[in-house]
Amino acid sequence: MSSPSTHLRQASVGIHLGALFPLLLLLIDSLLGRLSVNPIQDLTLRTGQVALILLLLSLSCTPLGRLTGWTWMVALRKPLGLYSFLYVSLHLLVFVGLDYGLDGLLISQAIAEKRYVLAGLVSFLLLLPLAATSTRAAQRRLGRWWRRLHWLVYPAAIAALLHYLWLSKVARVPILAAALLLALLLLRIPLLRQRLRRR
Ligand code: HEM
Repeated sequence: MSSPSTHLRQASVGIHLGALFPLLLLLIDSLLGRLSVNPIQDLTLRTGQVALILLLLSLSCTPLGRLTGWTWMVALRKPLGLYSFLYVSLHLLVFVGLDYGLDGLLISQAIAEKRYVLAGLVSFLLLLPLAATSTRAAQRRLGRWWRRLHWLVYPAAIAALLHYLWLSKVARVPILAAALLLALLLLRIPLLRQRLRRR
């Protein structure tokens, strides 16, 4: 039977491959001119979708690991979170660089006028310190504050979902994603988790 460290190694390889694949596909599609008639929107939507999926997967690691007893899953949180941040940064770069041509005035107008842009920005600003303190050295330096700081991932996910909900014409997918986030938050409640585990 495989050991937890083998499972962790295999899952880590799967995460690196799975997270880099959409980026590779995006590069190939861009280079070969295979994006849609609105390539900037295509890039924005695709980077945003992958960022959100990876963020929700990262949040699932701790509750799923505790529920199943596969505690090694908790270690997958960090690579998933960092890959999510990579896609969020690309998403933002496409928005400010390609979509708004680095025009500060137009960008601030968009933030002031479109609530979904503001929600996206809040989410990005909450994720930024988490990515910046993701190293072991930062974890050691911050001590118990590190855990408290990393709770910011929940408001960041809520802001990202509001961003998605406010910009979507069809609310079905964002609502499903919000339900998943709610379930993950509920699983953080120890009593509920213990009951589910006993079942
Ligand atoms: C400053 C931060 C952000 C800005 C300016 C921004 C901007 C945008 C824009 C302009 C769109 C496309 C709207 C459209 O063409 O219909 C979009 C879509 C999206 N964004 Fe963001 N975003 C930001 C942050 C985020 C974050 C933090 C996440 C997730 C972690 C995210 C996830 C998404 C998703 C899932 C979509 C929709 C994809 C779809 O409709 O299939 N965004 N964003």
